[in-house]
Amino acid sequence: MLKRLILLLMISLFSTSFVNADDDFISHYEYGQMLYSYPRGVSCVECHGESGEGKVIAEFRDIHSKQQIIGPDIRQITLEKMIQALNDYHDIMPRYYLTDEEIKTIHDFLQEKYKRMNAKRK
Ligand code: HEC
Repeated sequence: MLKRLILLLMISLFSTSFVNADDDFISHYEYGQMLYSYPRGVSCVECHGESGEGKVIAEFRDIHSKQQIIGPDIRQITLEKMIQALNDYHDIMPRYYLTDEEIKTIHDFLQEKYKRMNAKRK
């Protein structure tokens, strides 16, 4: 029990020093993954999926038919579009306060992850 606590403490100390340390400690890819998951607001994963592939956020039925609210696939979106989308107000998607550099890091992460997943499939 105590061992586990100490381990947890070490991990949390470690991870904070990681974030503040040189860029070398945490790769650009990992930093992008972190920002995508914890963007100072609701996680992008909640609505766009682990890899930006998109997902169904909610389903409901109105008098006519079944309706879906979808977080779109954002894997192929240009950086310009992503910057624009994150700085805009939307009906469903919240507004974020990320710098262009942070948005680029998220964008790079999604591009790289997409590439890696495709490479694995071949
Ligand atoms: C609560 C759900 C939700 C969250 C959280 C969310 N989004 Fe979205 N996003 C949407 C929806 C829905 C749209 C479609 C536009 C709209 O209706 O808001 C969208 C649109 C976008 C678009 C534009 C897509 C296009 O085709 O033009 C981008 C890029 C995007 N989101 C990226 C992100 C990133 C990056 C994050 C995290 C920082 C994020 N979103 C968080 C729901 C979400």
